[in-house]
Amino acid sequence: MTTRAIGNPELRNRVEKLRSLPASPAVLQPLPELLRKPPDEIEIAQVARLVSFEKTVAAQLLRVANSPLYARAVPADSIPAAISTLGIQRIEDILLSNCFSTLLPAAKWVIEPGVFWRHSFGCALVCREFAERIGYPDAEKAYLAGLLHDLGIIVNSLAYADEFRAVLATAVPNGRPLAEQEETMLGFTHSDSGAILAKTWKLPGDIVEVVQRHHDVEHAPRGNPLVAITHLCDLLCRLRDLGYGYQEWRAIDLAADPVWVALADHFPKLATMDLARFTLDLDAYVLRITALVDTIFSPADRLAKA
Ligand SMILES: [Fe+2]
Ligand SMILES: [Fe+2]
Repeated sequence: MTTRAIGNPELRNRVEKLRSLPASPAVLQPLPELLRKPPDEIEIAQVARLVSFEKTVAAQLLRVANSPLYARAVPADSIPAAISTLGIQRIEDILLSNCFSTLLPAAKWVIEPGVFWRHSFGCALVCREFAERIGYPDAEKAYLAGLLHDLGIIVNSLAYADEFRAVLATAVPNGRPLAEQEETMLGFTHSDSGAILAKTWKLPGDIVEVVQRHHDVEHAPRGNPLVAITHLCDLLCRLRDLGYGYQEWRAIDLAADPVWVALADHFPKLATMDLARFTLDLDAYVLRITALVDTIFSPADRLAKA
């Protein structure tokens, strides 16, 4: 499907003509690079400097550090204090999710933004956990892949608002996967439109492949396991109430999924992984993700009342 749709000149034209095509968040390049260093080599001052580039992030960090999730005895009143409470990895979660949540003005969203970010952010966290468990060497990149894989939903909301609204109106009551419904009604999917934005942003090639192929893994270039990892984690999220806010009517047997089987050839730990145990762990993990996402995206006044 995707090769034809990526070559779809009407789609390319419409996306490229978008006056309000979102700009790539400034931290997208340096942050994962910085956090890929061993923990004892990461300088808090450097992270604090990076954080200060994003206007609303400082307030956001303080808000989350002082939320009931962290139960501090004394409130954090500075960025370094918030960083030491939250930990470097959580800073990344908050910083990136905050930047991405401002990509699209509230009025332009076709899908509920909280649902979208819960899915993207949840998928990022599950990708990181999954990558670590199977021994994929770059868990930070897996995180980024999960966060960005559905970029095309933002593009569709901007470039095809009415058509995309109609897609959702049909997919949701029928429990049909979004990509299938897009293919039927639009002739392309959010993978296709997202790939155009990912290329415009000059994202790394393996992340572009994730955006473009996560619903079409059999056509992904060999040698990029990130596509398979993201595909599986996306499925896990959609099965675990971290999807698009509706129940998809499809039976999924992950261990029999050809993508799972192929990935197990590359990562022997996957073949011996206790899938039932992993999905149970994920259930607990999903609760933590949901609490975190709700804290990050809750309006301050709602949080204050919590
Ligand atoms: Fe997707
Ligand atoms: Fe997804």
